[in-house]
Amino acid sequence: MSQTQTKGQFITIEGTEGVGKSTNMAFIEQWLKNSGIELVITREPGGTELGEKLRAVLLDAKETSMCDDTELLLMFAARAQHLHEVILPALNAGKWVLCDRFTDATYAYQGGGRGIDMSRIAQLEQWVQGDIRPDMTMILDLPIDVGLERAGKRSAPDRFELEKHDFFNKVRNTYLARAAAQPDRYQVIDAAPAIDVVQQSIQTVLEKMVK
Ligand code: TMP
Repeated sequence: MSQTQTKGQFITIEGTEGVGKSTNMAFIEQWLKNSGIELVITREPGGTELGEKLRAVLLDAKETSMCDDTELLLMFAARAQHLHEVILPALNAGKWVLCDRFTDATYAYQGGGRGIDMSRIAQLEQWVQGDIRPDMTMILDLPIDVGLERAGKRSAPDRFELEKHDFFNKVRNTYLARAAAQPDRYQVIDAAPAIDVVQQSIQTVLEKMVK
């Protein structure tokens, strides 16, 4: 990106359980800030007061009756608010946005995991986002067994963490298929090596973006 560009860059981070999203988000945040970039850090579902309320409902393990379409629509409801209140104002002000998950997670979890038709997700994406897509999506990739082992028993599992191996395999495969179909927009980062090796790969990607 040229420093004269007025619109900020929109970066999203994705991955399955235990890939090290939080640690690497913190690394990216620090790296971009050190490069002098004005940055907004946010997450999905959530990122706004209303969106965080929707997140609480979506992740509530006691919410056992939620049907797949409700889950999908709540994800996009939170996203609409997030775009309106946080993401678009930041990008339009020339700031960069670093978002922990975005619509690729909907394709992966609701599409791949739950089995909702991808074309229905694409319709909602178009409706809610118009032409807005991330400029770059980093997918931290790890075999499901390794990720679940790393995630361990951090706390009581949320509604998604209760899912089984097979669900997460479908999620992972959807992320990888999307990256393979559109290699310009995605960077798949192998999250298996030691953290300094992973962060070197991430840094190489960031260096290209701030050039
Ligand atoms: P996390 O951000 O702490 O990983 O938790 C968010 C959970 O929500 C995670 O299990 C993935 C899930 N999710 C979806 O299923 N669809 C979505 O569109 C998003 C943004 C998240």
